[in-house]
Amino acid sequence: MNHRQTLQLEPRVRVLHSAEQIAARVREMGLEIARQLDGTRPVFVGVLKGAVMFQADLARATPIDLDLEFLTLASYGQKLSSSGTPQLITDIQIPLAGRNVVLCEGVVDSGQSVSFLLDTLRSRGAARIQVATLLDKVPCRKIPVPLDHVGWRIGDEFVVGYGLDAAERYRNLPYVGALEEVER
Ligand code: IMP
Ligand code: MG
Repeated sequence: MNHRQTLQLEPRVRVLHSAEQIAARVREMGLEIARQLDGTRPVFVGVLKGAVMFQADLARATPIDLDLEFLTLASYGQKLSSSGTPQLITDIQIPLAGRNVVLCEGVVDSGQSVSFLLDTLRSRGAARIQVATLLDKVPCRKIPVPLDHVGWRIGDEFVVGYGLDAAERYRNLPYVGALEEVER
């Protein structure tokens, strides 16, 4: 089995954060969330599919009682950049009234998705909503959104791996990398 077959190296992907670096950073984030929300049994709401790895690891790194919920936004299809108004495709399964929510995202780009989700979750009566994202594409922000827990701030690059895709590829890479030579 060669490196490509084991998904350790993809020629078009420049590694930004290794699996080891991600594990260490996510552990820190989980402990920080546990310190802030201990005793409140927060609901971790993950944005599928991009946040799946991050949410799973973050939840295991957060040593307090919590609920795991998931929602899906309309996909941008084959395109590599966001467009249009986000749309909820599948919803969480529990009421949020009075609950503390940790919204888990893989990457925040324009801010449109998180802004839409904050409005949506607030309208359900959540007590407090924190946003946790592995990556924050700072220079791409169009709508300011409060981000409470950020793994890393990055530049204007298309990132894949650790749940993040380009046309559904690369989600299972154990690291995060920048996709080279893409049409934006
Ligand atoms: P926003 O609504 O523009 O902030 O975009 C957020 C969503 O777009 C994320 O949940 C991802 O699904 C997708 N996205 C934005 N930038 C990237 C990227 O660099 N790689 C992979 N997906 C991205
Ligand atoms: Mg995507």
